[in-house]
Amino acid sequence: MNIAENIHPPAAHAAPSLAGMVSLCEAAMRDVNKVILEKMASDVPLIPELAGHLIAAGGKRMRPMLTLMGALAGTTTQGKDDIPDEALYLAAAVEFIHNATLLHDDVIDQSEKRRGRDTANAMWGNEASVLVGDFLFARAFELMVSTGDIEILRMLSSASARITEGEVMQMSMAGAPDSKLEDYLSVITNKTAILFAAAAEAGARVGGASAPICGAMHSYGLALGRAFQICDDALDYGEDSDKMGKNSGDDFYDGKITMPVILAWQDGTAQERDFWTRTLSQQDYQTGDLQTAREILRRHRAVERALAHAKQEAEAAIAALSPLGQSEISSALISGARFAAKRAY
Ligand code: IPE
Ligand code: IPE
Ligand code: MG
Ligand code: MG
Repeated sequence: MNIAENIHPPAAHAAPSLAGMVSLCEAAMRDVNKVILEKMASDVPLIPELAGHLIAAGGKRMRPMLTLMGALAGTTTQGKDDIPDEALYLAAAVEFIHNATLLHDDVIDQSEKRRGRDTANAMWGNEASVLVGDFLFARAFELMVSTGDIEILRMLSSASARITEGEVMQMSMAGAPDSKLEDYLSVITNKTAILFAAAAEAGARVGGASAPICGAMHSYGLALGRAFQICDDALDYGEDSDKMGKNSGDDFYDGKITMPVILAWQDGTAQERDFWTRTLSQQDYQTGDLQTAREILRRHRAVERALAHAKQEAEAAIAALSPLGQSEISSALISGARFAAKRAY
C-alpha cells in the first residue's frame, strides 16, 4: 500500500493545472494537429489563410485533449495503450467545431482580439469569418462521418445545435440584468458545456470504454464546461486582458448578462440598478462606466461568488469521475477540472 497516497488522496491535493493532460496527450496531439492541418486545406486560398490565422495561434486545445483523455480512459481498461485513429479524427473534429464557433462568436460579439491576435473579423471582415466558420463546421462533420459511428455523429451534431441554441438564448437575454440565474446556467450549459461533455464522451466511446465510464466522462465534461464558462465570464470583469489574449469588458459593453451581473442586480440598490439599466439595457455608456461596474461588483463580492460557484461545478466534475478509479488519467482530469474554475487565461 502506498502510505503517502493514503494520507493525501490525489483528489485532495491535485493542483489546478492542464499539465497532466498535456503530458498524457502530447504525442497524440501532434497527430491531431496533423489532421487539423490536412483538413484545413482548400484550393480557395482565403480559407486556409483565415482559418490558419486562428488555428496557428494555438489556444489551450482543451476539448481535443478531453477526447483523447476519454479514449485513454477506454483503452487502458482493456490493457491497450494505443489511442485509436478514430479518436484523433474526433479530437480534430471537436477543435474544428470550437474554432468555427469562435469565428462566428467574434463576429456576433464584434471582438477585436482572440488568442493574443487580431480577430479574423477585424482582419478579413465579417462575411469571410462567417463563411470560413461554416467551412470548419462542414470539415468537422466529414471527420465525424469517417469514424462510421452513428451514435458519435448524433452526439456531436446535437452538441453543435445546442451551441447555437445557447448563443440565441444569450442574445435574447441581452440587456436584461434581472434575468434568472437558472436561465444563465442554461445558456452556458448549451453554448459551452455540452461540447466539452460530447468531446469527452465521444473519445471514451471510440476508446471502447464501458457505459459507466462513457457516462462519467459526459458528466465530467458537462460540469467542467460550466465551471469553465463561469470563470471566463468572471475574467471578463478582470483587468488582465493581455493574459487572456482577448479584450476584457466585452460582455459589459455588449450588454451580455453573466453571473456576476445577475448576483449584483439581485442584491443591488435602486441607484445601482439604474446604472445597470442605463448601461446594459439602454446601451448608454459614459467614460469610466466599466470601472464603476467593477466597483459595484466588488461591493457585492459578485466575481468572487461566481468563482465559488465555478469551484463547486469543478468539484462536481471530479465527483463524476469515480467510475474511473485512481490513476494517472483521473489525476490529470482532476487537475484539469480545477484549472477550469481557477484559470487566468
Ligand atoms: C473560449 O474557449 C470560448 C469559451 C467557451 C469561453 P477557450 O478558452 O477554450 O479558447 P481557446 O481555444 O483556448 O483559445
Ligand atoms: C464563446 O463565448 C463562444 C461559445 C461558447 C459558443 P463567449 O463570447 O462567452 O467567449 P469569449 O469571451 O468570446 O471567448
Ligand atoms: Mg465572445
Ligand atoms: Mg459570445
